[in-house]
Amino acid sequence: MPQLRSGLWQSNSHNESYGPWFKKTKLIGWWSSSKQLQQELQAAARPEYDIYQFGVYTGGTMRSIAKKVRGFGHLWGFDSFTGLPEETEGQMLEGKHWRQGGFSAADALGTYDEDALLQAITRQINRPNTTLIRGYFNESLSAALAARHRFRPALLVDVDVDLHSSSVHVLSWLLGHGLLVPGVTYVRYDDWRREGQWWGEAIAHKQMTDAYKLRWRRLNLKEYQLLSIDAPPADAAAVEAIKRRALEGPEEARRKRSAVDRARRRRAAGAEQVGRGRGRRPSSPHDRIV
Ligand SMILES: C[S@@+](CC[C@H](N)C(=O)[O-])C[C@H]1O[C@@H](n2cnc3c(N)ncnc32)[C@H](O)[C@@H]1O
Repeated sequence: MPQLRSGLWQSNSHNESYGPWFKKTKLIGWWSSSKQLQQELQAAARPEYDIYQFGVYTGGTMRSIAKKVRGFGHLWGFDSFTGLPEETEGQMLEGKHWRQGGFSAADALGTYDEDALLQAITRQINRPNTTLIRGYFNESLSAALAARHRFRPALLVDVDVDLHSSSVHVLSWLLGHGLLVPGVTYVRYDDWRREGQWWGEAIAHKQMTDAYKLRWRRLNLKEYQLLSIDAPPADAAAVEAIKRRALEGPEEARRKRSAVDRARRRRAAGAEQVGRGRGRRPSSPHDRIV
């Protein structure tokens, strides 16, 4: 029986590795989508359209999605279940909890037997026609996977993978296999938090929008319906090339990042002079960039 690796997520040294957030969060119990999205999904749901969640953790939001939308086909969840991989080199992390191994479901539930863990999470989601697919996206999201399962057009793609690199793998795989369908598919990004965001899921969305010449109807900052795909790549090599370019990271993000790094070094130098212990307590993991 495959054994998963154990890490420091929610261990005694959680705070040192990941900061204080999510130390005890074994289950994220809500899917914070807009009412408008929920209503439109409900109106459009058909058994021939599926829902895809990327970033399952312990299954809380998959369970919540299944309660809020009825009448669609299969529910698919994709995750390593051993937490985040490393981000694309040089890309911003929103907080320490986005470091490698953050959000390891195996650590959170203390279950390292793969079959037992997936069964526990499937029970948690509690919906028939649900399949969990384990693996890091750069390996698991392959042509072989697409051939193995009967994936159908996406009614909804819920992206809760935090990182830029992960989001690029997700979007390019879906686009490369024709699972995003104009006029049908909605995409929601959990970690798109503000206008002009230049890290994580938001940057991947913009890169893929440019590469495939996608047009969207915007419901709000986080939620979009696909209207058209004007530049489908001709073949798998084209998809790989788009993915490689996207993972190199956009110039603008690189420029802003080095400005932030310089400011951070200046602040650290200043803090050293005024002494320790005067740090402001961060109010939320999402209010600051570590
Ligand atoms: C914030 S958590 C998701 C929370 C989840 N939606 C819930 O209901 O609790 C992010 C998840 O994305 C997964 N993830 C991110 N990037 C990944 C990748 N490249 N491959 C596999 N899993 C990934 C992590 O393992 C983690 O479980």
